[in-house]
Amino acid sequence: MFMHTGFIVAALLAVLGSGQSRAAEPCDLSTAACLRAHYSAPQAQWPPAQIDAGQPQQDLAPLPVLPALDPARVALGAALFSEPLLSQARDIACSNCHDPQKAFADGLRVSPGHQQQLGTRNTPSVVAVALMESLFWDGRSPSLEDQALKPIEAPHEMAARLPEVLQRLNQHPEYRQRFAAAFGDSPVDAIKLASALAGFQRSLLPQDRPLDRFLRGDTTALSDQQLQGLHLFRTKARCLNCHQGPALTDQRFHNLGLTYYGRKYEDTGRYQVTTNPNDVGKFRTPSLRLVAQTGPWMHNGLFPDLSGVLHMYNAGMPQPQPAVHQQKDPLFPETSKLLRPLGLTSEELDALEAFLHTL
Ligand code: HEC
Ligand code: HEC
Repeated sequence: MFMHTGFIVAALLAVLGSGQSRAAEPCDLSTAACLRAHYSAPQAQWPPAQIDAGQPQQDLAPLPVLPALDPARVALGAALFSEPLLSQARDIACSNCHDPQKAFADGLRVSPGHQQQLGTRNTPSVVAVALMESLFWDGRSPSLEDQALKPIEAPHEMAARLPEVLQRLNQHPEYRQRFAAAFGDSPVDAIKLASALAGFQRSLLPQDRPLDRFLRGDTTALSDQQLQGLHLFRTKARCLNCHQGPALTDQRFHNLGLTYYGRKYEDTGRYQVTTNPNDVGKFRTPSLRLVAQTGPWMHNGLFPDLSGVLHMYNAGMPQPQPAVHQQKDPLFPETSKLLRPLGLTSEELDALEAFLHTL
């Protein structure tokens, strides 16, 4: 009786779901042919994603098509992004650290700014910032417009004073004219400058990555090894818990055990923004778009190769415990409970790494 009802329900679902293709027959998901069959079905019929309760439940998704941007503003923003006049000593542009040739990061652990001063955090790529709900590793900035002026005035980055930068642009015949053309009036002010830089950065979403082609139905866009990696990413490797949706981020803050609390390289992260003791050591989940090109990795840039990062995830990430003198310290950070040893084989780690190259 029960089997009979189950059969009818299954048959009904199959009919309802059979737009063009049907879900694959049950088979052994550890074989390439079976994975291929399952992931050739529409995404709604893929093997279920494994995301813990309490986390947003978004699957992988292709990059959205954003509202059209004004081409004159984007072109102006591009020029400003590479413009050293925005720095005090006229020697550093945004693109010094966010280099278009290096996926808009710079390949360094930390970047030299004004008078070669070094920051403490790794320069993130800006290719997916159009989709981020907060900016900076600690999420302290709510919008690209808010963010854009901060590096110009940061003493260790471009070290300029905004009124002086605006004066330089207003005295520059070409910029003055281009701002007037793009925004319809003059003079150049902080709002227009921020808006042009933000607009340019919104235009940088990587087009046509293998993952997007696969998600749009081109089943040849991923190799067997990359497809195995995609499956692991969604299931056993637990990555989708935090790296989800089109930008591969839940937009939330987590502690991966990399606070270096009480040691060299200590960075308390989100706590510096909220002063909530629960936020010590938390960082915003970064986008993983073009991640294979944006090393070294993590907020501190201390991880020079991707396979090292994957080995750390496989071990469950560092889980520092308080020393005797730290036992009553309310700020002692706790590694996220979403992280745990994964038991991935070296073949599975290679597959996961191959998948990261498709993002
Ligand atoms: C000296 C190097 C340097 C320069 C110059 C620089 N940045 Fe950055 N940028 C960084 C670093 C480092 C961070 C991360 C800082 C943090 O999270 O605390 C960052 C973060 C960002 C972010 C946030 C990205 C994210 O994923 O949250 C954006 C957007 C950005 N920069 C845009 C710009 C713009 C626009 C300019 C020029 C006006 C610029 N940057 C100049 C080093 C630099
Ligand atoms: C608990 C949430 C969480 C899970 C689960 C998770 N990540 Fe992350 N991931 C983060 C956060 C947060 C960061 C930034 C942490 C930092 O810098 O301290 C990060 C950083 C990274 C980076 C470095 C990105 C960069 O630009 O430097 C990579 C690569 C990465 N994760 C891949 C993965 C993979 C692969 C998995 C699955 C094995 C995974 N993550 C699972 C939250 C998570």
